[in-house]
Amino acid sequence: MNNARPTYKSYQQAFSEEQLPFAWLDVDNLDQNIQDIALRANNTPIRIASKSIRCRWVMERILNTNSQFRGIMSFHPMEAAFLADQGFDDLLIAYPSMQANAINEACKRVKSGKTIYFMVDSMAQARVVNSEAKSLGINALLCMDLDMSVDFPGLYFGVYRSPIRSAENAVNLYKQIRTLPHVELCSVMGYEAQIAGLGDRLPGKHLENPIVKRLKSKAISTIAERRGTTVAALKQHGADIRLVNGGGTGSIESTILEAAVTEVAVGSGFFAPHLFDYYSHFQHKPAAGFALEIARQPRKNIYTCSGGGYIASGAPDELKLPKPYLPKRLSYIQNEGAGEVQTPLKYKGKLLEIGSPVFFRHCKAGELCERFTKMAVIQNGSVIDHINTYRGDGQCFV
Ligand SMILES: Cc1ncc(COP(=O)(O)O)c(C=O)c1O
Repeated sequence: MNNARPTYKSYQQAFSEEQLPFAWLDVDNLDQNIQDIALRANNTPIRIASKSIRCRWVMERILNTNSQFRGIMSFHPMEAAFLADQGFDDLLIAYPSMQANAINEACKRVKSGKTIYFMVDSMAQARVVNSEAKSLGINALLCMDLDMSVDFPGLYFGVYRSPIRSAENAVNLYKQIRTLPHVELCSVMGYEAQIAGLGDRLPGKHLENPIVKRLKSKAISTIAERRGTTVAALKQHGADIRLVNGGGTGSIESTILEAAVTEVAVGSGFFAPHLFDYYSHFQHKPAAGFALEIARQPRKNIYTCSGGGYIASGAPDELKLPKPYLPKRLSYIQNEGAGEVQTPLKYKGKLLEIGSPVFFRHCKAGELCERFTKMAVIQNGSVIDHINTYRGDGQCFV
């Protein structure tokens, strides 16, 4: 593993044969992140969140690293079917679906021997799974999505996910689910997005950061209590809950402390997009991004790249822009941001040549792979492979 910090020169050299624009994957940094994430999870099994990767090669590499990495957290039944066909197994679909055809495709893979968990938070979704499972003569495994948002007086802290917010809600749903003959509730997932996906060291948020830190530490105990009592209540009512999933990159340390949790989900930390630079308790290495061509130079200190408007999803703000990474000392023009077909950048460094690359990091992890069909993979300073993204596989799920 090459632990040297990449420089503009080293990346420029390593990728000199690539046609711009391209997506890059730095395997030395990826491997370091894989090791660091395993250490952070301290022997707790880790399920790989595919949404934050969207590249089979990378998921296979992580799974092959050590047996602490087990199974995939997928985001759509068609994706689960696709991954099953590519040799993956133990697929937890983290989002409910009402699409009978898609669920049927995933159920077909169950029939051929794969383990797939279907997410539900209402009877409507459970009935669709039951009906498709029945049509194929199988039993399907269900996972219940437990909402992890926390209501503080005057403040909703979390994201809107599931209507199941208490042990009582969960038991009520379970009692109805067990009337369906072709499904079995065996799993619970609770995603504490406000801990896992929210940094406490955000740039320019000097007032908010300490408040977020305090809210997080207050919410963690409510989350643990809710997950623990819900799993216990479901078991008490006869559900054989064998899998309890929680967390994400930013919450590994708190999620694994919960006795009820059997595994933690991690996705973003492997690529370490720049949104994950802003946490006080860990720092992973930039392992993926994209490179654009400098196509022209309209003024002395302004270079214009071709393409670049790969804005991340979520509430729109400046943080959602990709971050110019190498060379250093590049910044956006306020009025233009990252453009659809061109992105002018201010530069305070040494002269750059037209035709040279600028390396960027995406704000989020998996969304990068929706923009490119391949990633150029470097290891020890040279390109060793070109790997397909989901897009390169011809796949697009949501
Ligand atoms: C339900 C759920 N849990 C966990 C994760 C993992 O989060 P992260 O990508 O921040 O590691 C994700 C996102 O990928 C998710 O959708």
